[in-house]
Amino acid sequence: MRVGRVLLGNPVVAASGCFGFGAEYGEVYDISRLGAICTKGLTLRPRAGNPPPRLWETRCGLLNSIGLDNPGVEAFLREELPRLKRTGAVVIANVWGASPEEYEQVVQALASSPVDAIELNLSCPNVPGNGIPGRDAAATAEVVGRARAVARGKPLWAKLPPEAPAGLVAVAQAAQEAGADAVCAANSFPALAVDIRTGRPVFANVVAGLSGPAIKPLALRIVYELSREVDIPVVGIGGITTWEDAVEFIMAGAHAIQIGTANFLDPYAGPRIVDGLRAFMEARGLGSWEEIRGCAHR
Ligand code: DHB
Repeated sequence: MRVGRVLLGNPVVAASGCFGFGAEYGEVYDISRLGAICTKGLTLRPRAGNPPPRLWETRCGLLNSIGLDNPGVEAFLREELPRLKRTGAVVIANVWGASPEEYEQVVQALASSPVDAIELNLSCPNVPGNGIPGRDAAATAEVVGRARAVARGKPLWAKLPPEAPAGLVAVAQAAQEAGADAVCAANSFPALAVDIRTGRPVFANVVAGLSGPAIKPLALRIVYELSREVDIPVVGIGGITTWEDAVEFIMAGAHAIQIGTANFLDPYAGPRIVDGLRAFMEARGLGSWEEIRGCAHR
């Protein structure tokens, strides 16, 4: 199957930030069984990330405030990518920049590498300042346009936040017009936890990103709406934990889905969902996902 120009063995992708660079999961199963792997967000220079605590469990969800802890794009290209490619996995490099220029520089560094696609993280909830271009159509168009100009034909996916003041549809359309090959929806939801022992927010940054089963119906609604309003593929993300969840996203219009927090609950979540989807296709006699994609709209 394909997501635009990216050829995948199946529609199940490991979501950025929940799979590292695949090394740890690679000790547990053959990670090329997944459709693709999205790397942790890469920046131009190494980043140490936010001070602890960085994770906080909620009922049915997980709050994170990692702060883009990563070794930087050059160390990724040198030390992680060769090993990751040797596994046979399809590799999608997730990119974040503190400015449009930084996005452009990181994409440029990846453009002549063997990554299979680039996912622009337009929606990191955990960095102060102007970190979420995906909340605004013009800012999204600028980042995607600059990335497109230097990406040398690499497929570009735009990962959107769950909310935008003037509406997410306008942002997704701006990404499409600026040259994105797909939109990924959605990133974690801005959320809060207060530590009742101290009376203070749990996280130094106050607001953190909520993921996990709690957000699944919210993300599903976003995918349903976006897939009606854009012509490029939509990749569904948000709380997917079972193959049944994945089928819901495909029926709502998703071309592929990403598994994030579920990897922490069960390291086998990815292959379990791949196998479940395969069994579902066989039981239904489906020749391809096209036969049911978006059926919830009809
Ligand atoms: C981080 C968290 C996210 O949800 C995201 O999309 C990107 C980065 C982080 O804190 O590192």
